[in-house]
Amino acid sequence: MKKAYNFNAGPCVLPKPAIDAAIAALQDFKGTGMSVIEVSHRSKEWEEVMEECRNLWKELLNIPDNYEVIFLGGGASLQFLYVAMNLLENKAGYLETGVWAKKALKEAKGIGNAVCIASSADKTYSYIPKGYEIPTDLDYFHITTNNTIYGTEIKEDMDCPVKLVADMSSDIMSRPVDVSKYALIYGGAQKNVGPAGVIFAIIRKDILGKVTRYLPTMLDYRTHIENESMFNTPPVFSIFVMTETLKWVKNMGGLKEINKRNVAKAKLLYDEIDRNPLFVGTAAKEDRSIMNVCFVPAPGHEDIQDAFMAFAKERGMVGIKGHRSVGGFRASIYNACPIESVQALVDCMRDFEKLQK
Ligand SMILES: Cc1ncc(COP(=O)(O)O)c(C=O)c1O
Repeated sequence: MKKAYNFNAGPCVLPKPAIDAAIAALQDFKGTGMSVIEVSHRSKEWEEVMEECRNLWKELLNIPDNYEVIFLGGGASLQFLYVAMNLLENKAGYLETGVWAKKALKEAKGIGNAVCIASSADKTYSYIPKGYEIPTDLDYFHITTNNTIYGTEIKEDMDCPVKLVADMSSDIMSRPVDVSKYALIYGGAQKNVGPAGVIFAIIRKDILGKVTRYLPTMLDYRTHIENESMFNTPPVFSIFVMTETLKWVKNMGGLKEINKRNVAKAKLLYDEIDRNPLFVGTAAKEDRSIMNVCFVPAPGHEDIQDAFMAFAKERGMVGIKGHRSVGGFRASIYNACPIESVQALVDCMRDFEKLQK
């Protein structure tokens, strides 16, 4: 099989060892004579996977003991609702750094008093707002650490006077995180930690049980903590592949090492964008994401859009079209994207430049 240079934004490239393990487990799961999608989720063999998955999360992110990790279906989009249902009593604040952040705020507004504390909508979310104040009367402050569509990222774990809640869908496990600074971290798996179909939530236990509203059983985080993510049938295949993906992260040397690789990959591509007169990056330089690299044709070269896309496609590049709301190009270079793919894209940009002369 000819491998594509996969820059998809999610679902996206996953580590080969995880895919290989998934193929093997689809045939025969741990010698049970059944496929991983045929075994009971109450079986000992499956419970071992759940345990291993939780332990890998705890180990890789150095999660303190007063937190729980759960896995659920429903996508990160349903977590927008979970967060507000479980934590919003009086007032919540949101940092609006993109479409996903805006959607999270919209869900919270449906539940109670949720306000936008700062926004970068004025410049198509091309930067992370700074210098805003977080009111101390908020139940929580919600941020989106990596803005998948716009290629901006909050790369440091901020100090926050109220409970900090983060959607880390697109940069979880790309760097070490000081989990103790967050009350809740959640995200969809389908970028750095596995296939679509499962979300992770890392929850500081003491934040729960404080709201007065009725919480439907399935929408109460406590249900899933108490039942170790098996109140109902978990998305077994997604969790299996997530476990294998995390094993790969561990084998690569853990998050410090992964981060080093990610920084090197991002630098390679941003350096080319900054050098090549045909392209220009769209995110403010200090806020550039190391996961999603967004760029457009430079002013005066708008006509290269389609030609470059066709040229890149010819060279085996997949998924570099920018999100439909911003246009241009976006290369998602998540953990499992090898530096060889990034180099191939850089070479493609250079060769395309030569053709224009
Ligand atoms: C930052 C961020 N949050 C939330 C979502 C929504 O995730 P889901 O499709 O799992 O609902 C995405 C999807 O790409 C995302 O990038």
